[in-house]
Amino acid sequence: MCGIVGYIGFKEGLQVQEVILSGLEKLEYRGYDSAGICIYNDGIQIFKDKGRVAHLRTLVDNSLNSKLGIGHTRWATHGIPSQSNSHPHQSKTGRFTIVHNGVIENEMELREKYLEDYPFISDTDTEVIAALIEYFEENGEDVELAIRHVMGIIKGSYALGIVDSRTPDVFYAAKNKSPLLVGLGDGFNMIGSDAMSIIKYTNQFIELHDEEFIVLKSDSVSIYSILGAKIERTPYTETLDASDTEKGIYPYYMLKEIDEQPYAIRRIVAKYFTDTDYNINPNIVEVLSNTDRIYIVAAGTSMNAGFVGKQLFESIAKIPTEVHIASEFVYNTPLISKKPLFIFLSQSGETADSRAVLVKIKKLGYKSLTITNVKGSTLSREADYTLLLHAGVEIAVASTKAYTSQIAVMAILAANEANMDVSFLKTQLALVANIIETITDNKLIYKELADKYLVKRNCFYIGRHVDYYVAIEAALKLKEISYIQTEGFAAGELKHGTIALIEQGTPVIAIISQENINLNTRSNIKEVKSRGANVIVISLKSLSSATDQVVIDDVDPILAPLVTIVPTQLLAYYAALGRGLDIDKPRNLAKSVTVE
Ligand code: M6R
Repeated sequence: MCGIVGYIGFKEGLQVQEVILSGLEKLEYRGYDSAGICIYNDGIQIFKDKGRVAHLRTLVDNSLNSKLGIGHTRWATHGIPSQSNSHPHQSKTGRFTIVHNGVIENEMELREKYLEDYPFISDTDTEVIAALIEYFEENGEDVELAIRHVMGIIKGSYALGIVDSRTPDVFYAAKNKSPLLVGLGDGFNMIGSDAMSIIKYTNQFIELHDEEFIVLKSDSVSIYSILGAKIERTPYTETLDASDTEKGIYPYYMLKEIDEQPYAIRRIVAKYFTDTDYNINPNIVEVLSNTDRIYIVAAGTSMNAGFVGKQLFESIAKIPTEVHIASEFVYNTPLISKKPLFIFLSQSGETADSRAVLVKIKKLGYKSLTITNVKGSTLSREADYTLLLHAGVEIAVASTKAYTSQIAVMAILAANEANMDVSFLKTQLALVANIIETITDNKLIYKELADKYLVKRNCFYIGRHVDYYVAIEAALKLKEISYIQTEGFAAGELKHGTIALIEQGTPVIAIISQENINLNTRSNIKEVKSRGANVIVISLKSLSSATDQVVIDDVDPILAPLVTIVPTQLLAYYAALGRGLDIDKPRNLAKSVTVE
């Protein structure tokens, strides 16, 4: 989490403060507890505070004329959000100023070994890095060696931007585990945690790898290994369109991204089918055919999509499939089958918990496939194979179109394995896109339901079969943006304890999309109703009853999660809107979770 951006050089009409601030605005999805920038203008000038980039804008001196700046937007890990814990941080003499995304795991050890009696100002691990660079420089190392020395002794993750006040014609960067890109301009060069933070200024990028050290000047970028060996790397042209990252007419990115789901599904169909056949990398097809068990590893919404994926791989492709919480898998690894395939589901492709598993299973020699929205992301680069979601940039912290896209891609993969009739699946996915459009065209229903029912402190989603998996995701969506305590429950399991929480007016939202569980779920609805619950039913038309509040056109039941989830996304959106919350940036969260 946290985002960093840096700029050196000159371009007519570009003011460094603005480049850094606009980059940070694009990176705010990564963390928004505090923000800060360092500008070199006949000396180091630092502006920083807790709060959003919009607040930082009011602090920055716009009259400064500079050629060098670095900036940071924070998701607090070490120390509360405060002015003193905000980045940039400096070494004690003020010579070195740094911004950092990542976590230094051995900071206590390093403090004890090298920095006894050091006058730390903040509670952050980052200040240790600034202090150590100065320590090694004062002990006779040149600055570049001092930085590489520090890279060699810190354990953990980092994307760093480093300014030495004595050499303002250069700045340094370093990367390990946390994402970082270089942007190449005409007369300037940049770094950024992602392409969105840079794309407004250039589309020429260089990818960086772990343990690399970078020296940036206005007219050159040099990349070195941690040991100082020069690395040559060809730049690439980033195809991201700057306008993809704008909200346009929408009040929030989340609503825009909910509305984009039909296009995302249609794009997936265009990418993964030819006119008459599936269009999937044959190596992936082969590896899937030869596997005896799939292990889906993911976090949050991606993991919830993984549960639906399990259903698809088992029922369509007949491949046993397990779903694992990434952060658990690393430290409590289950028994692995003889020919496993690991599928990493991740919108961002940067989730540290998932990456830790990927590193582990690669060492064990297992095959891996990443399904992600971000081309060139860490999980994509490091897995054996990648399938892209092609969903377009997802910016709202609450993931929506990535969820449906992940399910659509897994459905196609499973169907290909089972030789499912191509035209049948294409038609069903086209139908899915149309049904989602009908749902999003009728948003008022969801606003009214949210305003009427989602006004309590807690809420339940219930379902059976694959509806249970959708219920889990629906609950995550509602709780993360509205702060209503919501649980997704297997409808039949409520009576084994949780039904004790149902009281007069408790909202219970039931999802019904599978014929074989329709009556059972309806019995469970009666159970909660008779204990005072206000029930909303979301059902497919052929299974609906006259009193169901949300009735969705029929689609093949195996693809039902693609449509039943959409009303729940809208309910979450309107519940949060009704409470006046910042929907795209819910409290305590960040979009891309790059710390374990
Ligand atoms: O980028 P990823 O899909 O790997 O992210 C995983 C989770 O952090 C993410 O899905 C998170 O749960 C979202 N905030 C949910 O809306």
